[in-house]
Amino acid sequence: MSSGPEAVDVKRELTTLASQAKSAQELMSLMVKLLHDRMLKYNWVGFYMLEQGPPSQPPMLVLGAFEGAMTPHTRIPLHQGICGAAASTGKTVVVDDVSKDPRYLACSLETKSEIVVPIFVGGKVKGELDIDSHFLAAFAKEDRDLVEYCANLVGKRLEQSKT
Ligand code: SME
Repeated sequence: MSSGPEAVDVKRELTTLASQAKSAQELMSLMVKLLHDRMLKYNWVGFYMLEQGPPSQPPMLVLGAFEGAMTPHTRIPLHQGICGAAASTGKTVVVDDVSKDPRYLACSLETKSEIVVPIFVGGKVKGELDIDSHFLAAFAKEDRDLVEYCANLVGKRLEQSKT
């Protein structure tokens, strides 16, 4: 199911937002709010950033800026969840029906579909943008384009600031 013309307007607003944000952190906070407020089927929107930690510990995806209900999954290892799959393969994952995907880590009982897009800095995965919807198959091609556009904006910003 398509998200309609709202995606086009939001993309324009995102470009403005990227030029105004003073840091990558601010950009991420403003971005989750914009996507959550304006894209009606985006019911939970958040970033997970990859933390390497000490050599004895496995890398973790750590919850960053988000909009929506608090999730029990604040730290996700790379071998778990849709989030782990996207970060470890470096590929966008779209799940039309989370109840049929054994990788899915439940965040809310209302979630029906999910998209996770990796964020690259210097060619390496540094985090990801995760969006959940209360609607089945909420993420059509234009949504995937929009979310990948967002992840790319954040990746570029992180590359510039190295923060
Ligand atoms: N559903 C995700 C976990 C994060 S919550 O959706 C916010 C997953 O399967 O990795």
